[in-house]
Amino acid sequence: MPKVVIVYLSTSGNTKAMADAIAEGVRSRNVEALAVNFHEADIEDLRSADAIAIGSSTFYYKMLPPMEKFIENLAREDVKEKIGAAFGSYGWSGEAPVMIAEKMREIGMKVIDPVLRIQYTPTDKDLEECKRLGKDIAIRLKAK
Ligand SMILES: Cc1cc2nc3c(=O)[nH]c(=O)nc-3n(C[C@H](O)[C@H](O)[C@H](O)COP(=O)(O)O)c2cc1C
Repeated sequence: MPKVVIVYLSTSGNTKAMADAIAEGVRSRNVEALAVNFHEADIEDLRSADAIAIGSSTFYYKMLPPMEKFIENLAREDVKEKIGAAFGSYGWSGEAPVMIAEKMREIGMKVIDPVLRIQYTPTDKDLEECKRLGKDIAIRLKAK
């Protein structure tokens, strides 16, 4: 069964809430999903994943350095041809998800457009959008 791994960096839980809702959306299409904090992400899970979604909130107009490092490490793996998605909560400028999508493309992933950005704490409507993204990822995997 295809597997989607959703990795996030979230300082106060906003991006985590998005990640959990994306996972719920994936599972609603009967595809296995795992949402995990970036420093608990298991490289084996990422290697075996068919799709990887990466989320980070924006700090000082970019993603936080540990997430940048995480993506650099991911680039050493064979992630080419995997489906990618980028998301994150933000306050006023929201660069991080855009930068994540750029980096994912640089390492050869097929990134879903557009990135998903939610301002501050996701509302119920925002969480529905996150679930929608999860469903889209699952549908693309099945079409592969
Ligand atoms: C010190 C600090 C710097 C921030 N810098 C930015 C920024 O440059 N651009 C932006 O859009 N949001 C910025 N934010 C807002 C966060 O991205 C926002 O609070 C987000 O919801 C946090 O999500 P998280 O709980 O997933 O980390 C900043 C927040 C803090 C506390």
